[in-house]
Amino acid sequence: MKKELSIPAILLRLHGLIWASLPGFFVLLNVLAVAHGLSWGLNTLVFQRFFDAVNQAVTGAGTPSAIYWQLAAVAGITFGGQILNGAHNFLTNIFGHKMMGFLSKEIYRKASRLDPIAFEDPAVLDDINKAHQGMGSCLHMLAVILFIFTTYLPYFLFMGWYLYSVKPSLALSIVIIFIPVALAQLIRTGVYTKLEDESAPLRREYEYYERCICHREYFKETRLLGAFTYFRRLYQDTLQIMQEKKWKAELRTGLLELATRVLTLVGYMGVLYMLFAALLQGEISVGAFAAIFASVDMMFAMAEEVVGMHIGTVTQNLGTVRNFLRFLEIPERTGKEVAVDPGKIILEGVSFRYPNSEKDAVSDINLEIYPGETLAIVGSNGAGKSTLVKLLTGLYLPTEGIVRFGGVPTNEVSPDSLFRRTSAVFQKYQRYQMTLGDNIAISEPEKEKSNELLHEAAQKGDLEPDSEAFPKGFETMLSREFDGVDLSGGQWQRVAIARGFYRNHDLIVLDEPTAAIDPLEETLIYRKFAEMATDKTAVIVTHRLGSARIADRIAVMDQGRIAAIGTHEELLRSGGIYAEMYHAQAKWYHRESPSAL
Ligand SMILES: Nc1ncnc2c1ncn2[C@@H]1O[C@H](COP(=O)(O)OP(=O)(O)OP(=O)(O)O)[C@@H](O)[C@H]1O
Ligand SMILES: [Mg+2]
Repeated sequence: MKKELSIPAILLRLHGLIWASLPGFFVLLNVLAVAHGLSWGLNTLVFQRFFDAVNQAVTGAGTPSAIYWQLAAVAGITFGGQILNGAHNFLTNIFGHKMMGFLSKEIYRKASRLDPIAFEDPAVLDDINKAHQGMGSCLHMLAVILFIFTTYLPYFLFMGWYLYSVKPSLALSIVIIFIPVALAQLIRTGVYTKLEDESAPLRREYEYYERCICHREYFKETRLLGAFTYFRRLYQDTLQIMQEKKWKAELRTGLLELATRVLTLVGYMGVLYMLFAALLQGEISVGAFAAIFASVDMMFAMAEEVVGMHIGTVTQNLGTVRNFLRFLEIPERTGKEVAVDPGKIILEGVSFRYPNSEKDAVSDINLEIYPGETLAIVGSNGAGKSTLVKLLTGLYLPTEGIVRFGGVPTNEVSPDSLFRRTSAVFQKYQRYQMTLGDNIAISEPEKEKSNELLHEAAQKGDLEPDSEAFPKGFETMLSREFDGVDLSGGQWQRVAIARGFYRNHDLIVLDEPTAAIDPLEETLIYRKFAEMATDKTAVIVTHRLGSARIADRIAVMDQGRIAAIGTHEELLRSGGIYAEMYHAQAKWYHRESPSAL
């Protein structure tokens, strides 16, 4: 399923990212880098000339003034090289910071455009996890590759040309020495890519256990159940498997490195011997001998640095860079940007299956929701209610059939167009660590917060911002971590409902946001809601049939299908699951008069 990106493809893509972000800066950096690399090579050349001038002066074949000229050239190149070095490092650092900003923006931009269903797929979650890890590696790889191509490569090309002009076999032997090193690096790449692919699911696992132990959300239950040791053991076991995999990879690549280093050292000795022999046979000048002798060391150090250290760490991180690029390539959900008016919502033969799931969560749904109507969806746990509302809002696209949202198939238009006039309070709503006002107004993030609308929304959610629970009214911070207050489950649900109402909408979906609110209160909220929402389409998911009664129609779901649909009276009359459930629950509402039920 996952086709690996080749190294040239990776380089091309990284290049594309740079061009997209910093084209001018990139050109400047490259020009400077090439000049920097050439200055190292020129160093050897001017030293050779200097040594030759000294030798000639000593042997009486030259004049002392020639020495001064050559010395000036040496000083000029050395000084210029230092300036280039400083400027190059400085610009590389700035470049790194800028790219970091750009790449993180890319990650968030991408995550915001993924198809929501992607987040239900463990493979995509892995890629997202790995992408964050891969960003740093990408930057490092970019910096190294740039350095190799624009600084080391010009230097080696220059030195290759220089050595070749002095004695061709010298240039050739230096190239041969590096073949085993390069091969070893290829093997390393394979080892580390495999390691990264095997580690990501393990990392996700142990991070989850870590949360079960320390995170506030899980902590209370873990303590109460006495499950601390249990989770710690799971955490340690997973960590250990990961460490063992890492250790094996390190050992294999370590041994490989040792072998290649020995080979390189032997080659290095060979080159020094060749140089010495060439001098004795009069094939090269004393100056060339001295300059090459002095620079062979630097060349080896640099080649080692490039292949052993730089390419080594890059190949080690190649796996994570691939993950990052793969993440950027996950298909985004796109579609036409049109003004969609919810109007009528029609589901024709709709089935849906979650990624990696064996069976349909909902199957063969045919349903029409009329503008302005209130539809309740009821049914047992796992019947497919939440999945159905995600399909009819266009959040998920059906695997079979069509959902027409105001006449437009949901798979043809952009998610933004679909969601513009829809508000929803999902079963798993968010508790934002922000003020009460912000927690509500976040459903209209682009609009300026309006106090009047806040009060209106709070009233619809049956929330009292002036009560003791909110010491600073809408300005009350809803987070203990930020010196604020915490709310009860029912209060949080009211905040979530107020948030749903604050958003400008033609369609509102409430997926059991009232489970923690007592049944009588829930019925009151829904009744008030039904009175106010006469011109809006509303879909309410509830387990409490007393609340479902306020709806114009009720759809009863059973095992992914709509088992029955009709008004409360029709469904009661026809018997079936609904009548059964209703009679079982009716006793909850005995405080109210039967007519209010
Ligand atoms: N992310 C998921 N991946 C795979 N299967 C899922 C996922 N979410 C839900 N399902 C499955 O789809 C089916 C319908 O789930 P859904 O959440 O729509 O039910 P529901 O009627 O809303 O239940 P509840 O009353 O408990 O909220 C269930 O069998 C469930 O196991
Ligand atoms: Mg549900």
